[in-house]
Amino acid sequence: MHEKIKQYLQEIEDISIEGEKEIEEFRIKYLGKNGLVTGLFTDFKNVIPEEKKQVGAMLNKLKTAAAEKIEQLKTELGSGTGTVAAGKDLTLPATSAVLGARHPISLTRKEIISIFARQGYTVAEGPEIVDDWHNFSALNFPPEHPARDMQDTIFINKDPDVVLRTHTSSVQVLTMENNKPPIRIIAPGRVYRNEAISARAHVFFHQIEGLYIDKGVSFADLKQTLLYFAKEMFAADTKIRLRPSYFPFTEPSAEMDISCNLCGGVGCGFCKKTGWVEILGCGMVDPNVLENCGIDSTIYSGFAFGMGVERITNLKYQVKDLRMFSENDLRFLSQFETAF
Ligand code: DAH
Repeated sequence: MHEKIKQYLQEIEDISIEGEKEIEEFRIKYLGKNGLVTGLFTDFKNVIPEEKKQVGAMLNKLKTAAAEKIEQLKTELGSGTGTVAAGKDLTLPATSAVLGARHPISLTRKEIISIFARQGYTVAEGPEIVDDWHNFSALNFPPEHPARDMQDTIFINKDPDVVLRTHTSSVQVLTMENNKPPIRIIAPGRVYRNEAISARAHVFFHQIEGLYIDKGVSFADLKQTLLYFAKEMFAADTKIRLRPSYFPFTEPSAEMDISCNLCGGVGCGFCKKTGWVEILGCGMVDPNVLENCGIDSTIYSGFAFGMGVERITNLKYQVKDLRMFSENDLRFLSQFETAF
């Protein structure tokens, strides 16, 4: 064993090589799976215990010598061809750094904020843990309203007065309490509901709330604002349709559909052949809500709207399963616009 190690060390030191192919052959001969050095490592188990330490050290030295020789040969080979000593051709185009991608929810949020910013809206924020007043009572939810139910709302420490906000409408209340009209805000944020997780429901998701309060704000203003949003967000020929609905904090209330952005309103599987898809809830802020938040409802009026960011993202990118947004699967995430 000693002899062989010495012999190979000498051979490695003496070797001279012309081309890249020979370097590879050299590597295979000594360090390959069935190579000479590798073979010695296999034989190592037969070395008597007293010699194991010394032979082991020699073997490691041999292995390092072979690896270093290969590096040295590669460097020499590179240096003869007009490139720099490291053997790398610096005139080759650089490989660009791998950039992360923006999360689709962030992309949609960013786009929605920018559309409303162009209409003079600023971004308002509020906490995710709120009291009953901000999430429900100030928004005109009657005490027995089913939305307060244990089924829907996630309570903190089982305290009925401390909840994870179930909607961003809580930011409406906070904003009206702390600001004087005119108020023109959108409030993006995460919301929580006690739901069984499936392709269509999750315990957390994202909403964007809108609120406009001033003198003489009418339903016509609401409609025009939302039409502008739909055209900017989807396509210039997008149509909207408002259907009467009910929310405790708006009167009258409506749900808004847009003409199906996949089939253009003709009817397809996506819009269940109706030509329309629902995207948000809206209405004129109920005078009770204005009063609850310290705004004189005889002087001011306003409208509000709220939309699910996941819903809008699904429409834009046809993501069928809500869970994909929070699974952090890079194969999914890397398909979206890069971060820079
Ligand atoms: N908060 C409602 C929800 O979570 C959405 C909503 C509907 C918000 C109508 C509004 C509105 O501001 O006017 O389902």
